[in-house]
Amino acid sequence: MANVSTIPSFRSGLLVVSLLFSTCFLASVAGPDENPGAFGRTLDRKLMGLKKEKLSHFRFYWHDVQSGKNPSSIMVVPPVNNSQTNFGQVNMIDNPLTLGPEIGSKMVGRAQGFYALADQGQTGLLMAQNLAFMEGKYNGSTITVLGRNPIFNQVREMPIVGGSGVFRFARGYVQAHTHTLDIKTKDATVEYNVLEMSRVRLLFLHVGALIVFVYQ
Ligand SMILES: *[C@@H]1O[C@H](CO)[C@@H](O)[C@H](O)[C@H]1NC(C)=O
Ligand SMILES: *[C@@H]1O[C@H](CO)[C@@H](O)[C@H](O)[C@H]1NC(C)=O
Repeated sequence: MANVSTIPSFRSGLLVVSLLFSTCFLASVAGPDENPGAFGRTLDRKLMGLKKEKLSHFRFYWHDVQSGKNPSSIMVVPPVNNSQTNFGQVNMIDNPLTLGPEIGSKMVGRAQGFYALADQGQTGLLMAQNLAFMEGKYNGSTITVLGRNPIFNQVREMPIVGGSGVFRFARGYVQAHTHTLDIKTKDATVEYNVLEMSRVRLLFLHVGALIVFVYQ
């Protein structure tokens, strides 16, 4: 809401239109052929901020802690018998995401979900996780990642299938690269690079006779 104070300065990214025009604009959102009681309707892409998109890059470290008193990754289903690749194992995770590779460095979020060993030929995971961020304006927003993770490859790529909060309509991919792996404890630290594209948020505020659109 701090953006309201920038209204008189007509900063770039700020669009002020007359009430007359905006009334027409808003009317066009629902469209004359739309039945208000209908189950589905089309919306204006502009109003949802989908005409403009921004690309963001995030880098952090993902810690799979299986050892010690407070593991963040816990096996909830054991692998099937005699599998060389631990096929069938499922771990639930609530893994910390930190800025630096040390687990004690600043935490920016948590990776919550599970991974399942889904490959009978090599160690390959199905990962289903929500990256729940806590940092700054990302606090409370999530990115959902669903993909295949053959953990002994140098770089594994997994799709972003959606997001919430500032990441609504997100798409993109993450690249995971193992930083350290302790063979004994199975604890792992993995570098995550996230390339995420989502809409620019379009707020519209009523100020007297004006409607103000603000791109964030
Ligand atoms: C797996 O192996 C264990 C111990 O060797 C045995 O008790 C169990 O019945 C086996 N499970 C299956 C599904 O074969
Ligand atoms: C994130 O949001 C929660 C609840 O909305 C709040 O309790 C917490 O302090 C916030 N964390 C940061 C780092 O802003």
